Amino acid sequence: SLIPVILAGGKGERFWPLSRRHRPKQFLSLDGSGKSLLQATADRLLPLAGNWENLWVVTSSQLAEGVAAQLPQMPAHNILAEPEGRDTAPAVAWSTLEIAQRYGEDAVIGFFPADPWIGDLPGFQHTLQAAAQLAATTDAIATLGVKPSYPATGYGYIEQGDRTGIYGNLPVYRVNRFTEKPDLHTAEEFLSTGRFCWNSGMFIFRAGVVLKELHTHAPDILIPLKQQGRAAYSQLPKISIDYALMEKTKLAYVLPADFGWDDLGDWNAIARLLQGATPNVEVGHHVGLDTAGSLVYAENDEDVVVTIGLEDVVIVRDRNVTLIVKKDRTQEIKQVLKLLQDNP
Ligand code: GDD
Ligand code: MG
Repeated sequence: SLIPVILAGGKGERFWPLSRRHRPKQFLSLDGSGKSLLQATADRLLPLAGNWENLWVVTSSQLAEGVAAQLPQMPAHNILAEPEGRDTAPAVAWSTLEIAQRYGEDAVIGFFPADPWIGDLPGFQHTLQAAAQLAATTDAIATLGVKPSYPATGYGYIEQGDRTGIYGNLPVYRVNRFTEKPDLHTAEEFLSTGRFCWNSGMFIFRAGVVLKELHTHAPDILIPLKQQGRAAYSQLPKISIDYALMEKTKLAYVLPADFGWDDLGDWNAIARLLQGATPNVEVGHHVGLDTAGSLVYAENDEDVVVTIGLEDVVIVRDRNVTLIVKKDRTQEIKQVLKLLQDNP
């Protein structure tokens, strides 16, 4: 069995203005299903957990109330609230300590980002069962590798090594190298070898294995947390699990993630997800003349967005804010938010 933990403390700034401080990306329903990304992730993991009692979320204290409101069936003590965001390495370390205390060091834990899109649910669950079996029977830190389609610089890259076995019909490979967010040149090189896949951001392991690895590779995180619990947060470095552990450990293994995956990392991903037959992707009321290749997202029913002679833009209208950005520059929203903070 598997204890899934959803990582839900991120800010999701690239979805501004729809994502705001108290309403980050994982709380939004971006696909028109009415379910938020967090709710869809919990639904997808519930069959693996068996029941709500064994499903966990780690988030910031600022968002904990919102998480509880979104997941009313989840027991309150399964929502781990971090005093402050220190990126995913402290989140993984602290929740693994908490869960090991509750279930023992042999518990198989899986960490899951709150926000991906998954296409094939049975395929997803089958792959997770195989990964859980691998983690239960060996000292592996299992990752799920996605076949890369372009030299993305916002993902981790996993170099696949020798095949070491088969779990639930799926091949398992040793990870030769894990490189978090390479530059474009390196990403292009990785792609050309054919040996690399993208890291999906999901990690499956026995609690004791990762606690030992963190003790070796990230003692500055693990030891204070072990001694002081969440009171240690203010002194912890801000670093992701990918840099703090995955680039360093020799226990990483990878299974193919062939179940349809999209990280939903920015507005263009939403456009991919909602893609229809029309020349534009539209949510809400849009009237376009001579407008193509664009995403128009009007959050409020009473708003109308009218465009003439536009191509390849993203327009998002929400409450008092309108965002208009060229499609290929949506990653720069984070920079704009800094400007807004400096000049309110
Ligand atoms: N509890 C908690 N605390 N959760 C956090 C924190 C934090 O401080 N920071 C981020 N998270 C959550 C986010 O909400 C998200 O669900 C997940 O952790 C991953 O964080 P991201 O910030 O979205 O990571 P990333 O997308 O840059 O990179 C990771 O995911 C990629 C795939 O989407 C890495 O694992 C990459 O290697 C990977 O390719
Ligand atoms: Mg992400």
